[in-house]
Amino acid sequence: MEFTDVNDDLTEILITEEQIRSRLAELCREIERDYAGKDVLLIGVLKGAVMVMADLARELKLPITMDWMAVSSYGSGTASSGVVRILKDLDTDLSGKTVLIVEDIIDSGLTLSWLLANLRSRGPESIEICTLLRKPEAARVDIDVKYVGFEIPNQFVVGYGLDYAEKYRNLRGVGILAPAVYS
Ligand code: XMP
Ligand code: MG
Repeated sequence: MEFTDVNDDLTEILITEEQIRSRLAELCREIERDYAGKDVLLIGVLKGAVMVMADLARELKLPITMDWMAVSSYGSGTASSGVVRILKDLDTDLSGKTVLIVEDIIDSGLTLSWLLANLRSRGPESIEICTLLRKPEAARVDIDVKYVGFEIPNQFVVGYGLDYAEKYRNLRGVGILAPAVYS
């Protein structure tokens, strides 16, 4: 799907496909330096992280494995509650593993901070976070994120895995959703 198909639904194209590609390549060079000689387990959080996981994993020149988790915040609406339920757990035992969590977006950080505590309790050797997007103004908990693609304003964005009501995930870039679409 090209942006031209959904232009009326977006107020702005924030990040293009090409910008994502070149930023992910930069992050991969950093990750390769930091993890040289290691086997890295990439953990993707479904469903939003599917695109960034696919591109990051293929760009990385490191031996990696992948696993996936699906979580859901209790409650509804666009605000995160921080109370999290596991919908699909990992297939992998984390003890002694070098873990890199791959996320699409960190908004309040509540979901991720719960997830971090949960995964840390399983005894990995190390655990770090890579996120494509972060909204610094929305942060409600302080999380140490090692790799950040882009810091973005506190607005609802879609595309490149990110959805509104399950739509727009297949946009190749990231755009700001027009408030008219969700109000
Ligand atoms: P928190 O607030 O816990 O939220 O960091 C994390 C999850 O909320 C979703 N989220 C978004 N999804 N556009 C989206 O499509 C957004 O702007 C947005 N902000 C948060 C997302 O699932 C993320 O993992
Ligand atoms: Mg999500």
